[in-house]
Amino acid sequence: MPYYRQVGALPPKRHTQFRKTDGGLYAEELMGADGFSAESALLYHEHLPTAIVDSRVWDEPAEALAANHPLLPRHLRTSKLDTGSADAITGRQLLLANDDVRISYAVADRPSPLYRNAVGDECVYVESGTATVETVFGALTARQGDYVLLPTSTTHRWVPTGDAPLRTLVVQSGGHIGAPRRYLSPRGQFLESAPYCERDLHGPTEPLQASGSDVDVLVRHRAGTSVLTYADHPFDVVGWDGCLYPYTFNVADFEPITGRVHQPPPVHQTFEGPRFVICSFVPRKVDYHPLAVPIPYNHANVDSDEVLFYAGGDYEARRGSGIEQGSISLHPSGFTHGPQPGAVERALGAERFDELAVMVDTFRPLLLAPAGLSCEDPGYAWTWSGRH
Ligand SMILES: [Fe+2]
Repeated sequence: MPYYRQVGALPPKRHTQFRKTDGGLYAEELMGADGFSAESALLYHEHLPTAIVDSRVWDEPAEALAANHPLLPRHLRTSKLDTGSADAITGRQLLLANDDVRISYAVADRPSPLYRNAVGDECVYVESGTATVETVFGALTARQGDYVLLPTSTTHRWVPTGDAPLRTLVVQSGGHIGAPRRYLSPRGQFLESAPYCERDLHGPTEPLQASGSDVDVLVRHRAGTSVLTYADHPFDVVGWDGCLYPYTFNVADFEPITGRVHQPPPVHQTFEGPRFVICSFVPRKVDYHPLAVPIPYNHANVDSDEVLFYAGGDYEARRGSGIEQGSISLHPSGFTHGPQPGAVERALGAERFDELAVMVDTFRPLLLAPAGLSCEDPGYAWTWSGRH
């Protein structure tokens, strides 16, 4: 839940006349969540944000989703995905999805079209590369380890910077994504017990303006995907304020919570959305009881499907399973999972783990998309038994 921020030029009182140097009025826009009963922002546009001149269907490839049936734990290798020259929006390859959340992967080497997701918030994790995320609120810089949070209906585009391609894991929600409620005071301040705080969130610092006419914006909306053409460039905001805006949070700023014995998975929680959570497993000192078993016990999260994206370092509990940088494991509800054979013994006495992973736990089962199945390691399910 980002805190109050103001950027650029604003009138001293909301909903009052705010004039340009030529005497004309700026166009005020209230962008608000949950029926204007939650966070909102007031934006001041040079032009009418309503002035469209065309609308047409944006054809996306069909996404035939398959149930995880018969039930299996899965290992998807994003490094095996068929990726060519693409952008960070239209180049997304859907891997896993349900009615609450869609998980995609994209490798981008060129700027994306202007885009907004009117269905829900997006949380984009940058595995590697750098980018500028240009938004109607201003620009964000994105680097390795950043979570980039884009509120519903934020018009934006991704512009890779630097020589290496931008590799991103994309979590699209059907609602709003924010800090877990238990991290916040009743009035929204991060508590001392939270693993990160306001200083770790980075929003736009100045307006971003562009000029142009007849500008296309790809819109993912509740009925499908369309292209809306705007009479004037949507990046025409001279100032805004409020508590609704895009921001970045770098996973290196997540302060791990450790203990004498193994800490439960919720200590890694970073964000929550409707019927899913996002967690960060970061490099940390591990359990320091003299007889501690520092890696996870076998566990059954009976209400959730668990997705882990292996973003860096060595993930000790998965050694010997074929899991590598960029791998995704899906451990579904109904399957108890745990360390690979021998991992417990190898971990005894360890003082530190150099692991980096992003976890998405969903409360409804995830379906498999064709791109996900195309990069699946078929032997993963049998790595605990050693059969097959
Ligand atoms: Fe797990």
